Amino acid sequence: MSFNLLKGKKGIIFGALNNQSIAWKIAEKCFEEGAQIVLTNAPVALRFGEINELAEKLNAPVIPADVTSMSDLSNLFTKSLEHFGEPIDFVLHSVGMSMNVRKGNPYTNLDHELEHKTLDISAMSLHRVCQTAFQLDAMAEWGSIVGLSYIAAQRVFPDYSEMADTKALLESIARSFGYHYGLKKKVRINTISQSPTRTTAGSGVKGFEGFITYADKMSPLGNASADDCANYCVTLFSDLTRMVTMQNLFHDGGFSFTGLSHAVIDQMEK
Ligand SMILES: NC(=O)c1ccc[n+]([C@@H]2O[C@H](COP(=O)([O-])OP(=O)(O)OC[C@H]3O[C@@H](n4cnc5c(N)ncnc54)[C@H](O)[C@@H]3O)[C@@H](O)[C@H]2O)c1
Repeated sequence: MSFNLLKGKKGIIFGALNNQSIAWKIAEKCFEEGAQIVLTNAPVALRFGEINELAEKLNAPVIPADVTSMSDLSNLFTKSLEHFGEPIDFVLHSVGMSMNVRKGNPYTNLDHELEHKTLDISAMSLHRVCQTAFQLDAMAEWGSIVGLSYIAAQRVFPDYSEMADTKALLESIARSFGYHYGLKKKVRINTISQSPTRTTAGSGVKGFEGFITYADKMSPLGNASADDCANYCVTLFSDLTRMVTMQNLFHDGGFSFTGLSHAVIDQMEK
């Protein structure tokens, strides 16, 4: 069911790789709610992913951009402004990649060159995106920028490894840039801290099945799905949440505030 919450709005969506991607579901939901979309992903992901299928469905152009390249980002925003003929109302940053996790390096033996790359792709990129939009004055007043985070930014999940530190930086950038963009143009910047979700990036975490099942048992509402995340994200892009900015918003079925659940006690007593 559509409420037309994004009627007439124009947005850029980073990170739809395949139909499991959280960004894929968000793009579909934004379209359903009346938005016009530009899709983007890294050039290499465009070759291997399925983004063209989504682009066709949403009648959206695909403009490649590696989030670590300022010239790619500048090209993306310039071309999106040309395409829409109007400023941009919302941006989804749904990008993550851990180079050390991919190589199987444990947290106590990180390759710091790879860690630089991880931080650049997964966290500094939010700053790059915001700075590009800011300097090109690409966002409409009361625009909304959302990044995706995980609770490992606040609490220890050992196998989340360097991504925990990366998410802490991501959330900090949302706060810091949110201040400046709020003052300049009333643009709001938030992160959604999402439940574990079965996606290409998510499944890269060691022991992911145990991880996702535990989170589900610890959450009174159960894990939030990618579709649930898409619904929540639409509200943050809509005019109904204009005064929400610089926040990390837990979207996790109650996991973040549950100390212990009956389901876990039952399991321990078996
Ligand atoms: N899946 C989970 O359990 C979970 C939970 C909380 C938060 N998140 C976050 O959600 C976001 C989306 O991840 P997902 O789970 O949908 O997985 P995904 O693998 O579908 O998406 C990650 C995206 O990042 C893109 N990307 C990687 N390097 C890039 C680069 N250099 N330039 C541009 N794009 C690049 C990939 O191509 C891919 O589209 C990430 O920030 C992730 O950390 C995921």
